[in-house]
Amino acid sequence: MAQSTFVPAKAVAGKSRWPRLSNRRSAACDDDAFVLRAGSAGDLQAVYALNRSCFEEYWSVGSLVSALESGYDLLICEQDGELAGYLLTLTVVDEIQVMQIAVAPSFRRRGVARLLSEALVAGADGIATVTLEVRLSNIPARRLYAALGFAETGYRKQYYAPNAAGICEDAVLMDLQLPS
Ligand SMILES: CC(C)(COP(=O)(O)OP(=O)(O)OC[C@H]1O[C@@H](n2cnc3c(N)ncnc32)[C@H](O)[C@@H]1OP(=O)(O)O)[C@@H](O)C(=O)NCCC(=O)NCCS
Repeated sequence: MAQSTFVPAKAVAGKSRWPRLSNRRSAACDDDAFVLRAGSAGDLQAVYALNRSCFEEYWSVGSLVSALESGYDLLICEQDGELAGYLLTLTVVDEIQVMQIAVAPSFRRRGVARLLSEALVAGADGIATVTLEVRLSNIPARRLYAALGFAETGYRKQYYAPNAAGICEDAVLMDLQLPS
């Protein structure tokens, strides 16, 4: 996923990706009832805690605030008010860039990431492509994206910051072409 230090790019001005997504409930995941809704500033402490626990290069609260203020879209999945997962994206013209997707460990393998991703695609009016970067070693995420129909299109060599062993991991570039 995208690196942690960034200058938020300009999104499509004033448009929310989830205008019609008002506390949509889903029973798509086993017998769980998950709620999908647009995220806001009030969600960012919980999002920060989850992103910090999931990513080596997590975003600060300030970066998350800046992202929302500059038009990134945050989609929240929760159960009984508890954050199960979220999806942070940036729309530039007809492309959606997936910046982060994360699911809390206790909610994994219950279809939450699939639910978030399918909602993204379902709401992607006028979008030609969904793009993302993923660590070469992140097999769960690469399998998720492959299951959703993403294709691997290339690599960014040594894209990520050095790990404890001083190795900079490659990013795999993936995209999903949407029908026009
Ligand atoms: C990757 C991640 C988002 C998946 O979330 P999830 O809610 O557990 O995924 P889902 O239950 O929706 O799984 C959908 C499909 O993804 C694949 N998948 C998900 N987790 C997997 C795993 N651990 N191993 C193999 N395949 C996996 C499977 O194809 C799965 O379908 P299946 O359950 O029918 O086999 C989650 O593991 C996570 O938050 N990881 C840490 C953060 C991260 O790496 N984010 C992605 C950065 S690019």
